[in-house]
Amino acid sequence: MAGSTFGTIWKITTWGESHGKGIGVVIDGCPSGLPLTEEDVQKYLDRRRPGQNRYTTQRNEGDKVELLSGIFEGRTTGTPIAMFVHNQDQRSKDYGNIMDMYRPGHADYTFDMKYGFRDYRGGGRSSGRETIGRVAAGAVAAAFLKSLGIEIQAWTRSVGPIEVDPARFDLDERDKNGLYMPDACAAEKAEAYLRELMAKKDSSGGVVECEISGLPVGIGEPVFEKLSANLAKAVMSIGAVKGFEIGDGFQAAKSCGSQNNDAFGIGKDGNIYKKTNHSGGVLGGMSDGSRLVFRAAFKPTSSIASPQDTVTRDGKETKIEIKGRHDPIIVPRAVVVVEAMAALTVADMLLISMASRLDRIQTFFAYSSALEEERREEYERENSET
Ligand SMILES: Cc1cc2nc3c(=O)[nH]c(=O)nc-3n(C[C@H](O)[C@H](O)[C@H](O)COP(=O)(O)O)c2cc1C
Repeated sequence: MAGSTFGTIWKITTWGESHGKGIGVVIDGCPSGLPLTEEDVQKYLDRRRPGQNRYTTQRNEGDKVELLSGIFEGRTTGTPIAMFVHNQDQRSKDYGNIMDMYRPGHADYTFDMKYGFRDYRGGGRSSGRETIGRVAAGAVAAAFLKSLGIEIQAWTRSVGPIEVDPARFDLDERDKNGLYMPDACAAEKAEAYLRELMAKKDSSGGVVECEISGLPVGIGEPVFEKLSANLAKAVMSIGAVKGFEIGDGFQAAKSCGSQNNDAFGIGKDGNIYKKTNHSGGVLGGMSDGSRLVFRAAFKPTSSIASPQDTVTRDGKETKIEIKGRHDPIIVPRAVVVVEAMAALTVADMLLISMASRLDRIQTFFAYSSALEEERREEYERENSET
């Protein structure tokens, strides 16, 4: 299957199926010298792990990551970093009844038509478990970006019709409720809403919001490799994402130029700044120095236990009742997946951006040469003393 590799300089390839031996990722292009442990990656994976609360699938996977290569004495070596997570709690028999029919809202039909047969156990490669590789790689990209002062935070913005109130926004609250909502009151309402849906064997959609701070101006390449375009591709590649918007997004279409334009000013530090941020931190496809803000709309979980119309592989109409363990909402577990895809995109685009200006390339070379010279002098001093 083509299409499992993402990125240009910071490149990842993910592999593995939901009910195969395990899931993994190879990162190529991570610079050497980044301090990295399995715990750093595990923290991210624990945030997408199933079975953490009643709104996430009860499949009980440890999702313990093994770092197989690319690290020596606690630091990246600049060589490919391979990571692996064993699948443990597979109940493939739960999927026996869907072997010969297509689940509405899933990729069963399209996989069968494209490849002629499919790994029907848990959706194979189209399962939510595919995101393990993205999150493991995203943890490394986030550590790289953090070392440069760039931070990425995402949260649940809405569950069905229930939205976080900006007046009550509290990022500390996000990790206290199982829905990753930064507003305790909205989380309580959303839980009641989900309980109602679960009683009706139904599911909900929702929105993840993501903010990137600390980006310098100019990350992103005109014309086809815009930061906004690549973020959209990265986020839209996550299963169940049906919409992407940056800054005011679709609301901008209802606005006027006088409201939507972000006026410029000179700050007390003498630097140019934007007085508002309708653009969401991207102008002309390049970061503009403001916080980058985007949102991803997730559809309701397709696997619902109530009966649905479908067809069999041999073309007969039938009813399907989906067994197995599924999230009544995908959004809380997808929050970290969105963060990971944002981190991978920004890390890659930041490395690409380093080649954009001769003066900066010259500065880099002059600095590297000066460092080399310093090292040589130190070596000679030490050797002449002995
Ligand atoms: C973290 C995560 C977990 C998911 N869990 C489920 C699930 O439990 N049940 C389900 O029906 N779909 C789940 N999905 C969504 C399916 O993978 C996705 O809807 C399916 O592959 C069809 O693709 P599409 O919705 O992008 O068209 C999950 C997606 C993500 C990102």
